[in-house]
Amino acid sequence: MNAQSLPPVTLNTLRDMKRAGEKFACLTAYDASFARLIDDAGVEVILVGDSLGMVVQGRETTLPVTVEDILYHSRCVARGSRRALLMVDMPFMSYATPEQALRNAARLMQEGGAHIVKLEGGAVQADIVRQLTERGIPVCAHLGLQPQSVHKLGGYRVQGREASAAQVMRDDARALQAAGADMLLLECVPAVLAAEITLASEIPVIGIGAGPGCDAQVLVLYDMLGITLGKRPKFSRNFMQDNPTPQAAIAAYAHAVKNGAFPAPEHTFS
Ligand code: KIV
Repeated sequence: MNAQSLPPVTLNTLRDMKRAGEKFACLTAYDASFARLIDDAGVEVILVGDSLGMVVQGRETTLPVTVEDILYHSRCVARGSRRALLMVDMPFMSYATPEQALRNAARLMQEGGAHIVKLEGGAVQADIVRQLTERGIPVCAHLGLQPQSVHKLGGYRVQGREASAAQVMRDDARALQAAGADMLLLECVPAVLAAEITLASEIPVIGIGAGPGCDAQVLVLYDMLGITLGKRPKFSRNFMQDNPTPQAAIAAYAHAVKNGAFPAPEHTFS
């Protein structure tokens, strides 16, 4: 079936898919043309990630990305997409206080066309998540490896391997859901822990480097198209290797996520 003949994706669509045990796909996009390809391939969620700092702007980390940067790319993506739910990252330090979070999240929705915003952090963000969601701003909370904290973490590494860290992540997931979070995203988390958190959560859980047990998967578009600057992360896969065009690669990715073929054991952490 042509993806465009289906109704627009909403949070209810994704909750229903979780309940039905149906996997959904998410991909990052930063411009209108790729947003249209991703949308046409039936990918349910498009993420305007602050990864744009690295893959579009050529920076070392996501930290320099500003609200204006994200707004620019979000507007471009919103013009290209027709059916997908549009998730937009809140940049580093754009949500340090509830007031600032509210002001910036409102801009991402009003000026950027976001349907849901994503922010990094655990239970410490519960007040901000409550503040946003009680005012009608849907939130996805990003746990596990949080790239905006790369200097605090001492590098990009798997999170939650030690028993104490795993327990903190379980508690964070519960606290964020209780505060009103509409989705969780787990990055670089051992597959068993991610599956456990997914099972315990009523809200959909998107994984990246978090194994096949999550409700959905996300990848950075450029990684799955094989145009990563430097080394492609272990958890990603170059779908251009077996497909003749970006359109075919994106469709193959969506298909592989939905039928559980991606991620395979070589893309997961223990
Ligand atoms: O910014 C981004 O692209 C992300 C994904 C890595 C999940 O947050």
